[in-house]
Amino acid sequence: MTRAVRIAPSILAADFSKLGDELKAVEAAGADLIHIDVMDGHFVPNLTIGPSVVAALRPHSARPFDVHLMIAPVDPLIPAFVKAGADIITVHPEAGPHVHRTLQLIRQSGKKAGLSLNPGTPVDVVDPVLGDLDLILVMTVNPGFGGQSMIASQLDKVRALRKRIDASGRTIALEVDGGVTADNAAQVIAAGADVLVAGTATFAGGPGAYARNIARLRGGA
Ligand code: DX5
Ligand code: ZN
Repeated sequence: MTRAVRIAPSILAADFSKLGDELKAVEAAGADLIHIDVMDGHFVPNLTIGPSVVAALRPHSARPFDVHLMIAPVDPLIPAFVKAGADIITVHPEAGPHVHRTLQLIRQSGKKAGLSLNPGTPVDVVDPVLGDLDLILVMTVNPGFGGQSMIASQLDKVRALRKRIDASGRTIALEVDGGVTADNAAQVIAAGADVLVAGTATFAGGPGAYARNIARLRGGA
């Protein structure tokens, strides 16, 4: 079976002085989703984008906003990201305290709910909440920074999750985030991913290179 693969550029690697233009450029270049990495300097050692920036970017793209929250506690800020225009909201189970409640909060807000697994987080964490998920994100680097090298051992986790998702019969996207490049994308897709996050590999070379970069990630060039 050939799965459709979606590419989600992480704007962490975009030019922050002109994010609106960067969104338009990656959309024109074929991006399927816009991946927005939200970091709080506490759950992860970096500080990035808050809900007011997400709201400011919303009119600049028609693509779904795939908002990856690396913040703790996470529940108090979910309404702000819903209001800002997030379409998919992904949280980490460690951001606690009650992951099931968090996922319900996202879905009750009419948004798609995702769960993100760090390299040290076991696959089993998804089992009790599989029915509450629209997306599972496998981190193939430790969260906090773009431009890191993929931790290849995490592809076993992708394979295991692909089996669980298929066996469940549910529609759950399987996203891989961290160190995805044109050189390893085929391997990531073969492991079972159907959404590839790519920051550095999308934005390298500036706007003139985006279409080719995205096509190469998809395996088409
Ligand atoms: C890391 C973020 C990733 C990161 C990906 O914490 O979740 O989305 O920006 O960047 P690259 O593709 O450069 O590894
Ligand atoms: Zn991310």
